[in-house]
Amino acid sequence: MTDLNAQARDILIRNDRGGYTVPTHGLYPYQWNWDSAFVALGFAEFDRDRAWQEIETLISGQWDDGMIPHIIFHKDDPGYFPGPSVWATGKTPATSGITQPPVLATIVRKLWEDEGADPTHSRMRRLYDACLKSHRWFHVFRDPKANGLVMVTHNWETGRDNSSEWDDALARVDTSNVGDYQRRDTGHVDAAMRPTQNEYDRYVAILQFGRNCGWNHREIADNGPFRMIDVGMSMELLRANRDLLAMAKAMGDAAVIVELEARIALSEKGMDWLWNEEAGAYCSRDATTDQSSGLVTNASFLAFYAGVGNSTQRARLIAALERITGSATYLVPSLEAGSRAYDHKRYWRGPIWLVVSYMVAQGLVEAGHNAWADRICSDSARLIEKSGFYESFSPEDGSGSGGPDFSWTAAMWLAWCSKGDMA
Ligand code: GLC
Repeated sequence: MTDLNAQARDILIRNDRGGYTVPTHGLYPYQWNWDSAFVALGFAEFDRDRAWQEIETLISGQWDDGMIPHIIFHKDDPGYFPGPSVWATGKTPATSGITQPPVLATIVRKLWEDEGADPTHSRMRRLYDACLKSHRWFHVFRDPKANGLVMVTHNWETGRDNSSEWDDALARVDTSNVGDYQRRDTGHVDAAMRPTQNEYDRYVAILQFGRNCGWNHREIADNGPFRMIDVGMSMELLRANRDLLAMAKAMGDAAVIVELEARIALSEKGMDWLWNEEAGAYCSRDATTDQSSGLVTNASFLAFYAGVGNSTQRARLIAALERITGSATYLVPSLEAGSRAYDHKRYWRGPIWLVVSYMVAQGLVEAGHNAWADRICSDSARLIEKSGFYESFSPEDGSGSGGPDFSWTAAMWLAWCSKGDMA
């Protein structure tokens, strides 16, 4: 076993808090939704039982309406803001009131297929039910245009929290009643890498809207202060529906097959609403104003993973990747250099997150663009070799940013980039 393999395992084991893993000690002391999904892939490399358990613990926080929350607060920790008392969702276990990218079904399918794709696999079946319920929640509450895309009601739902795509919508959020609060994130990492105070006030104001309406998801979706159609989650949900469909077919779940096929067809058609001809890419778009962000982010390249785009659109996306190699030493930056607000060190405004790179590479392989997938895979491995298991990395000099000893970065090493292909 190489030293880095041992280190990656050790990070997962040390970040294990008993049935769930924290993203990193200090900065993120709870269970995060999509982090746990990717972390399961890392555990699966050396402890299959623990891999399933990570996701089972996550869905113990699923709401009755189907939402899988973005954070489960199994134990309180004073080092984090906003903690359970700020969200005040009244759930047991305590959770936040918003969700995160729906990548779970895709990962459950992979775990299940790697174990032989037995349709009677009981752990898969339970998670299949949870994913289906969560996908229906998106359909009911988060598809305001009935076109199969995903609306987010807080930028933290996107997992790409601080992307410049949200700037214009956030600028309209009223912060006059936010009141005093104490941030904790800047006590753990350099403030220059984190959102500004002005941005943070807006995040808190959106949270307060949800809390003030008792986390009524209908009210938040219809009248909340932040309503964006996220290109990332729209692609991820389409992909996850395809993976759920594969499991439904294996089990012969006839009614669900019909339901999912209809939803997939709707999303495939709906995705063009996000296509920005000038940018030559799929871009997030405001659900209230219809304004496109026009920004090419790492999420734009998830089109391959979602299986969308005609040949012209796909060629333009590949041209964008080619162009980005002119300013980035490493792929895939979260924002293209030269775009407004680009900063190679600041959260989601330039740095590379390996989980997004992994999904992009997976889609590229499936679309036959193996050389690009290999490039992304080897760049990802080089980043870890150079800087360690950081939360994110500069696309320019490869230095680490955000928190150290990061669980999902360790998981991506074990499950993907140390292997040199998508295996
Ligand atoms: C940050 C990231 C988000 C992630 C969380 C925990 O908030 O933006 O995607 O889930 O950290 O790692």
